[in-house]
Amino acid sequence: MGKITAGAILNVDQCRALTGRVGDVEYFRFAEFDEYRPEAVVDVLRGQVAGVVFRGVVPARTLALLTERFWASPARRRRGADAPGHYLGAYHYHKTTEDYLAEAAEFHAALDAVLDVPDDPVAGLNQGLAKALAAEGVRFRPAGRDGRQASRVIIRSWHGQGEYALAPHEDLGQCTEPRQRDFEIQRAADHQVVAMNMCLDNGSGGRLVVWNIRPDEASRRRLGLHYTGSPYPLELLEEVEAVRLDVNPGDVYMFNGSHVHAVEPETSSEKRRITISGILGFVDEHTVVSWT
Ligand SMILES: [Fe+2]
Repeated sequence: MGKITAGAILNVDQCRALTGRVGDVEYFRFAEFDEYRPEAVVDVLRGQVAGVVFRGVVPARTLALLTERFWASPARRRRGADAPGHYLGAYHYHKTTEDYLAEAAEFHAALDAVLDVPDDPVAGLNQGLAKALAAEGVRFRPAGRDGRQASRVIIRSWHGQGEYALAPHEDLGQCTEPRQRDFEIQRAADHQVVAMNMCLDNGSGGRLVVWNIRPDEASRRRLGLHYTGSPYPLELLEEVEAVRLDVNPGDVYMFNGSHVHAVEPETSSEKRRITISGILGFVDEHTVVSWT
């Protein structure tokens, strides 16, 4: 298994250096399978490998049904200028714990109505992972507080403009949001914060880009991204090693969200990208939680 090297510093620029931890060749890669292997997700959760992709594991008829129900859902909402598009489900970004969990409750029934398909692929993923973790004495459950639960997933279709459809960012910063000090997900920052994505539809292009750097706190503070994790200036990433992952409908991929990552725009004019997403991480030795 690969390693993240503790003291490895990457100096990109003398004045505005982006510093952090970089992975070795064994670690910094996407393990690839053509079937679901929950134990490979555990490797990502334990920080032994940067990512994993399961190719074509959701059947076409399921993708079509989920897509149709997403667009038909009366609970689907429009998102603003920073990431234009549509979504179903709550996102915790920039909210109080209370507001996030209340919003998650509002979306609960609407998400169930979309996801309740034969061979529900989200349930399949979660059950497989729960079993693999249970074998190691670890419980897997949705994050929550006071009897309220995080959203199971968030379903999104978005089409940002510019060089990247989703600007370079990391998912760690948003887990240090002061308004969420009372939320257990903040303890995931002491472990690995793992992004989960299931591609329902994608035009051509739209690759995931992951850079081999996990910015340290000094860089995040210097760039003013400490609580947001976004956006990282492109010029600071030019010299950084990156993997570019082709993503096709039916693929499920998970990766260490502490690495700076971005999504390339679709090159075709039809904007088709729809993704089911979630975030997961250990919050203590015996518990993995998921949130959105
Ligand atoms: Fe992300």
